[in-house]
Amino acid sequence: MRHGEPPAPQTLDPVERVSRDELAALQLERLQWTLHHAYQNVPFYRAKFDAIGIHPNDCKELDDLPRFPFTTKQDLRDNYPFGMFAVPREEVARVHASSGTTGKPTVVGYTRRDIEIWSDVMARSIRAAGGRPGQIVHVAYGYGLFTGGLGAHYGAERLGCTVVPVSGGMTPRQIQLITDFRPAVIMVTPSYMLALLDEFEAQGLDPRASSLEVGIFGAEPWTEEMRREIEERFDLHAVDIYGLSEVMGPGVAQECVETKDGLHVWEDHFYPETVDPFTGAPAESGELVFTSLTKEALPIIRYRTRDLTRLLPGTARPAFRRMEKVTGRTDDMIILRGVNVFPTQIEEIVLRTPGLSPHFQLHLTRPERLDVMTVRVEARPGAEDRDAAAAALARTVKDTVGVSVEVEVVDPETLERSVGKLKRVIDRRE
Ligand code: DLL
Repeated sequence: MRHGEPPAPQTLDPVERVSRDELAALQLERLQWTLHHAYQNVPFYRAKFDAIGIHPNDCKELDDLPRFPFTTKQDLRDNYPFGMFAVPREEVARVHASSGTTGKPTVVGYTRRDIEIWSDVMARSIRAAGGRPGQIVHVAYGYGLFTGGLGAHYGAERLGCTVVPVSGGMTPRQIQLITDFRPAVIMVTPSYMLALLDEFEAQGLDPRASSLEVGIFGAEPWTEEMRREIEERFDLHAVDIYGLSEVMGPGVAQECVETKDGLHVWEDHFYPETVDPFTGAPAESGELVFTSLTKEALPIIRYRTRDLTRLLPGTARPAFRRMEKVTGRTDDMIILRGVNVFPTQIEEIVLRTPGLSPHFQLHLTRPERLDVMTVRVEARPGAEDRDAAAAALARTVKDTVGVSVEVEVVDPETLERSVGKLKRVIDRRE
């Protein structure tokens, strides 16, 4: 396949072609199994359900799900390390963990069957992104406790690809491997893709001439403007992949290359809801909440992701709802003198401002009681008038987001590059 032809229908999984009604029937059956499995085998869930007097038998239709309690990251921490597992530890084939900024990591576990299903949905995701059996897939997501590397790896193998398990880092060598092995697909965070772009150019190579046809980018928020930037400079298709370790890892939702209109949630395994982040009540757009439908080792009921998005009807896979690109996390939201700001809003504007590169950081300080946000952004190489660029950025942020920001335009190649997930915000407030 070259550039975004939709997959032939016979290559899709049968479940990708079901009707919405057939999918809903499957979901209900699996949801009921999951609720029973969690209730019977995880004391945490039993106690939580009992406390509000609800029982798995009370779930008679999908719309009964909101009657069940939420699960949060704190619940996983409180049951550290293995207290949320619903199978004997001996049946857990693998664990992953996410570090988190403070305190104990969140530990998640998988049975052999969980890993099979994860591989299947990742293979499905790579194919939806435009990857095909027989291609070479360069995996630059981190390997290890992070789910990105191994999740991508097993999926690419399952699809029948040749996997290059590079992991993140050693940037010059990444370029050498891409040049010599000629992968069609790269799987990496969008921010690290920008670092690879710099390195191509530093080595005097034309990124547009590389073998890459498809980039599968996720693990952090990124915008349509960033898609345009990466597609233009690499001449490839940039598509979005979403997931989180508590629900499984990458491959919970995937954007289809033929439509690039948000991410289809693989609803035969992960049931999505959106709720008001403050009240928890069902809402049209808001915080994404997931319930696993097939997981054995770590069934997860109504997990509060903190990711903000909206659910929409399916397109390229009509039975599966889509989620809009994630705008940010509730905990990444900056409240600046009473105005809510997401880093993605700034990203959009930076990328539309002539003379500015996609490399920027948001510095928060509180010099005299009032919070100040400084956008520190690299000039594009060769850009002349930095003052004009800074003024244009500050003006557009003020006009569209509604806050005043300071802007510092710095030399190209001076801000730290990310190897995995990007840290966009540097908070130096007391
Ligand atoms: O980041 C899993 C993953 C790996 C997804 C590789 C995609 C690619 P965690 O480390 O548990 O898992 O972090 C999950 O990352 O709740 C979101 O806030 C954010 N995130 C993941 N994918 C996207 C995306 C992996 N496509 C957290 N857009 C999630 C925006 C994303 N945010």
